[in-house]
Amino acid sequence: MSARIRIAASILAADFARLGEAVAAAERGGADLLHIDVMDGRFVPPITMGPVVLSSLRPLTRLPFDVHLMVVEPERQVDVFLEAGAARIAVHAEAAAHLHRVLGQIRSGGAEAVVAFNPATPPEAVGWALSEADGVLVMSVNPGYAGQDFIPAALEKLRALRVLARGVGRSVTLAIDGGISERTAGAAVAAGAEILVAASAIFQGAGGIEASIARLRESAAPTDRPARTPSR
Ligand code: DX5
Ligand code: ZN
Repeated sequence: MSARIRIAASILAADFARLGEAVAAAERGGADLLHIDVMDGRFVPPITMGPVVLSSLRPLTRLPFDVHLMVVEPERQVDVFLEAGAARIAVHAEAAAHLHRVLGQIRSGGAEAVVAFNPATPPEAVGWALSEADGVLVMSVNPGYAGQDFIPAALEKLRALRVLARGVGRSVTLAIDGGISERTAGAAVAAGAEILVAASAIFQGAGGIEASIARLRESAAPTDRPARTPSR
């Protein structure tokens, strides 16, 4: 039986005027991780949030912080996010000149080190760095914005990474980020995703945050439910 799928709630689509309440609702709704999209206005056009957001949220939630660094020279930012309480830190293969080294920096700081791939980046190119990684993050949209359409080729990349990760000889967790919704979650899990990152589907879903997480979990792994006794 495969491991339980984890859901990472990406606060990028939350109401920032009520961020604490949104995070509490995500935790009540059964999110496993809080995904924090850090954008620098260079690697991607927008500027979003920095470590102060983690520090402010840390006393409010027990959810682990899953930090997604969409920044150039990520090695310059890793330490402040470690200090602010990150449990996982993803750096982009396209942004890190010395990927192997920055992954080691994250791990020696006590967090899980994750390699993120843009949709056009072939994962084979960084296969050698996977020995230093605890996880990979397949982007199924071009990073920068919530609410974009899922790029189906990401499924093929997940399948390729599943093979590459097996060759590492220890657990490398596969995550997918971008356009994940009730419509796409099942296919992502079937292709090997173990962590689903979602912003709009959770924080702007119909019926509120808790109901939206429940629907996402149901669509991700309907077979995870205990078998139902037929009613008649
Ligand atoms: C995109 C971010 C994603 C984003 C996902 O650059 O990395 O984490 O928040 O948003 P949705 O789930 O709305 O596609
Ligand atoms: Zn992200």
